Amino acid sequence: MHIEHNISLLPHNTFGMDVHANTVVTYASAAELTDLIHTVLPSCPKPLLHIGEGSNLLFMGDFGGTILLCSNRDIDIVEQDADNIVVRVGAGRIMDDFIDHAISHGWYGLENLSLIPGQVGASAVQNIGAYGVEAGDCIRRVHCVSLENATTRTFEHDECAYSYRHSIFKDADYRGRYAVVSVEYALSKHFAPHLDYGGIRNSILAAGLVPESIGARELRDIIIGIRQNKLPDPKVQGNAGSFFMNPIISRAEYERICTIVPNAPKYDIDANRVKVPAAWLIEQCGWKGQNLQRAGVHSRQPLVLVNLGGATGAEVKALSDRIRHDVFAHFGVHISPEVIFV
Ligand code: EPU
Repeated sequence: MHIEHNISLLPHNTFGMDVHANTVVTYASAAELTDLIHTVLPSCPKPLLHIGEGSNLLFMGDFGGTILLCSNRDIDIVEQDADNIVVRVGAGRIMDDFIDHAISHGWYGLENLSLIPGQVGASAVQNIGAYGVEAGDCIRRVHCVSLENATTRTFEHDECAYSYRHSIFKDADYRGRYAVVSVEYALSKHFAPHLDYGGIRNSILAAGLVPESIGARELRDIIIGIRQNKLPDPKVQGNAGSFFMNPIISRAEYERICTIVPNAPKYDIDANRVKVPAAWLIEQCGWKGQNLQRAGVHSRQPLVLVNLGGATGAEVKALSDRIRHDVFAHFGVHISPEVIFV
């Protein structure tokens, strides 16, 4: 465990916001966090904010409270048989390291999430997803510590209420109340690739591979290639991945959009609802590749807002507000940030 004061948050946010935190406390285990909640944290400045890699945050200025970081990166086998395995992963493990480790050991299911930034703890909160797979599909349970009274609590899969980019940990009643300290992932020992998300099969064919016989490592490399080709590297240009969520709307609303622009893209959710790519809505409003002061809209994926160099949180928010305003004015659809403003 260590406690630091007046710490730069530059290494702790992928948007590249040059802000400071009053206090940063790093813990290595659930037991250590429990102890901290009883001893040290009561005298630390509030609010408490547990972060991972800071890949889904926008700091609007210096943070006067206490940042909590988890340094537990352990991967322990909980149970296994010939077909399946359950592993418990420390919240502080980089998700992509875990996916790489899993593939190396012949544990499958997470290949399509390769190269998504962030830590394992955040994967369980945000239900990260890409190319037709969501983290929640493979999460068996989530181990937490209450930041209010230091009790431990395990959330079974069904209690986590996973849906698109959502979990119980984002609900108003739960947000900020629990620290996720480790996550149990249930993976398969038999590789069953998910190739149905648009573009994946074509990328496999373009690489000279055969979709039906692709290996897990090859699929991971294909996914990494797609992401690197389309998404800005936060180490080069600050960003937080998708800035907005794709709006889920009724079919009637979708038909109305098609009267404005015929054949708008969509993914079917159920009989009544569809998901429309926010990237498309933003591009239609003319924002792709544009900027407002030092905040920009990425030229290959307009869902991603970027720090063009020295942008403040206020500049990024001003750009976000303009885009949301224009999408609503043009299409009558609300798009909401996925990124959390701090
Ligand atoms: N599109 C455009 N213009 C563009 C780019 C995309 O119109 O310049 C439209 C196209 O219709 C395209 C559609 O948007 O078919 C979907 O684009 P893409 O496949 O890139 O996916 P997305 O819906 O924009 C979501 C996730 C991404 C994830 C991809 C792939 C959200 C908020 N984002 O983006 O997640 O990588 O699907 O599965 O759901 C992230 O979370 O940081 C992230 C990048």
